[in-house]
Amino acid sequence: MRLSLRFVIPLLIAVGIFAYGALPLADKLMLRWFSRDLETRANLIANTIQDPLQDLIRTGNRRRIQEFFTRITQDERLLAVAFCPPNDGEPVATTTLPKEVRCSDLDRFTKPAGTSDLLQTASGPVFVSVRPLVASGPMVATPIGQLVLVHDMSFIARRSRETREYLFLFFVGLGLMVALVTVIIAQLSWRGWIQGLRGLLRGETLFLAPGRAGALPPTPPELRPIAHDLRQLIEDIEADHRSRDEDRLGWTPKTLREILQRELRGQEVIVVSNREPYIHMRRAAGIEVWRPASGLVAALEPIMRACSGTWIAHGSGDADREVVDAHDRVTVPPPPEKPQYQLRRVWLSPDEEAGYYYGFANEGIWPLCHIAHVRPIFRTSDWEQYVNVNRKFASTVEQESSSSDPIVLVQDYHLALLPRMIREAMPAATIISFWHIPWPNPEAFAICPWRDELLDGLLGSTILGFHTQFHVNNFVDTVDRFLEARVDRETFSVSYRGKPTSVKRYPISVEWPPPVELLSKPVEQCRTVIRQRHNLPPEHAVGIGVDRMDYTKGIEERMRAVERLLELKPEWIGTFTFIQIAAPTRIRIDEYRAYEMRVRELATRINQRFPEATHPPIILKAEHHQPDEIFEYYRGADVCAVTSLHDGMNLVAKEFVSARDDQRGVLILSHFTGAARELPEALIVNPYDTDECAAALDVALTMPQTEQRIRMRLMRGLLQDFNVFRWAGRMLLDAASSRRRGRVPEFVVARGGEQRQSGSVSTSGRQ
Ligand code: F6P
Repeated sequence: MRLSLRFVIPLLIAVGIFAYGALPLADKLMLRWFSRDLETRANLIANTIQDPLQDLIRTGNRRRIQEFFTRITQDERLLAVAFCPPNDGEPVATTTLPKEVRCSDLDRFTKPAGTSDLLQTASGPVFVSVRPLVASGPMVATPIGQLVLVHDMSFIARRSRETREYLFLFFVGLGLMVALVTVIIAQLSWRGWIQGLRGLLRGETLFLAPGRAGALPPTPPELRPIAHDLRQLIEDIEADHRSRDEDRLGWTPKTLREILQRELRGQEVIVVSNREPYIHMRRAAGIEVWRPASGLVAALEPIMRACSGTWIAHGSGDADREVVDAHDRVTVPPPPEKPQYQLRRVWLSPDEEAGYYYGFANEGIWPLCHIAHVRPIFRTSDWEQYVNVNRKFASTVEQESSSSDPIVLVQDYHLALLPRMIREAMPAATIISFWHIPWPNPEAFAICPWRDELLDGLLGSTILGFHTQFHVNNFVDTVDRFLEARVDRETFSVSYRGKPTSVKRYPISVEWPPPVELLSKPVEQCRTVIRQRHNLPPEHAVGIGVDRMDYTKGIEERMRAVERLLELKPEWIGTFTFIQIAAPTRIRIDEYRAYEMRVRELATRINQRFPEATHPPIILKAEHHQPDEIFEYYRGADVCAVTSLHDGMNLVAKEFVSARDDQRGVLILSHFTGAARELPEALIVNPYDTDECAAALDVALTMPQTEQRIRMRLMRGLLQDFNVFRWAGRMLLDAASSRRRGRVPEFVVARGGEQRQSGSVSTSGRQ
């Protein structure tokens, strides 16, 4: 009822105002119609009585003229008739002639154009018409006086009153009728809307795309805008709940697929990195497929298997070109595994590879960011190739994306310019960039001659991820120091060139649970196999290190720690061997060749220093190993040492923990790795402190099994909760909410306090 009154009261007020304005108009109109009627009537009477009246005037009998006039005034509307002779002669009139009408004063009824007019008399309103009387002679017409006809107008007032009453009743009736119809329609529509809204809230038509609605009624057109808003609200709430559920129930490949389906509407995912996940190499026996020693590849491969899509990377294998199709694509993983996604290879010329990969990326940015006391080298020619190759990757991204708003995951320091290049080519793309290596403080970064260009390139991203909050802070400080950007330290977002980039910590991780085939060989068997392989006795203590042959990995420091251990605890001479796997890497760079040489010499020197050892203290395996071989070492070793001088995360530490389903083994972990922040149950060391590292080795080798189990269980618990699917899922969820927020109109208060909305959120730290 209240709802109906809301419609009816304003409606009746509007009708009342309209009626109030319309009634005087109707009055005026009626008066004009009646005056015109009386004019016509007066003409008719004057013409009709013209001849008999002239006859009577000629007789000069005033009594007979008066009787004639009295007869005429029998008509109820004609009140009085008078004859006014010319030259102020004696008028003849009916007794009903109002005293206000005088023969001497007829001019006012003939002026200006009319011959009659309204007059208010003591007995009421009258209409006075004056008509000239003309005697028609043989030659000329002679005026003989004026005929005055006075009509009673009181009937007009009566009629006008009646009309006003009728009109008033008409408007009242009309108002009520309109109100009634409005109330009925409003009630029906309201009920329809309520039903529709209830349907929407029950999700009957909300999530059904056109054509999939089946038997359910489609969303009524008037409810579509609200359905759209409601859908987004429900999606936001659901997304929030889901992400809490996912954190509770664990992240799996299925969770990731669901996020893509639900949150990102099945958007295609494109990963771009320099290193490819599968390298085809020609060997004597035919083509071999290698899995590179790369943390990045180890993390992203399970993600791509879960999400499908396309991985764009540099085709670096010498048989890579032999296996691709006409579009440089190959489906991976290769047989006998089931193919899961596309690998699109980008070919680089020797000059491009030398300048972009070996030069700018690995002689420039790598030492710049790692601060391992190797001086970065910046050459203009390398920079030019770096720009050139980033452009090449950008145009490949464009070729590979089938929509204008793909989700592009840009990986690492080789492709720092790519986010901006993609943003320029595809403004609607969601670009998630991840920097896998450390980010130094602003002073350290500032030595790069192209620092602003690198920052600008990265700020083309929607989301920019680092492993640790420390690296996030360093990046934000660097931007704040060198660019004209708006930095919000509360939300960690940077607005630059009108677009915000959310800079966040996403600690990378490993697949959990680990692939079954890697755990298929029992731990005892792995212990036996690796000892037999290296001619070690069954109970020989074994330490393992798995790295690329890189000066940042602290391999020399680790070996010196082994040497120190043997100095301090000679009981380990001949009873402990450290097996160092070091995959060859970046061998065209002098620094890397020199490093490999130093590592080989050091291993030899230490082994020679303890000739009494029946088994060598150090076994160096400077060659490529496949993941299953590495897992065998992880599972068969007593201790794993990760002594990087600086590392973004270091996935070897996490892989070792994930491999130990027997809950044994001890991890020694450098304080300068991202992993150290997540795995405090490891024995945390400073790799530059040789004595500390030697002591850690001793503690690890003598640690009781119960303590090993407690530490290992805690570390495995972390990996279970924070696996690589969560790493990718969190970024995709953030990308999805950034896409949603991008659709919310921006709220702007203009000068003078007037509010307006325009465009989509752009500078408030959201995209
Ligand atoms: O984990 C850091 C990282 O730089 C990765 O980004 C890279 O894939 C890996 O080390 C190996 O380096 P490269 O690809 O040069 O062999």
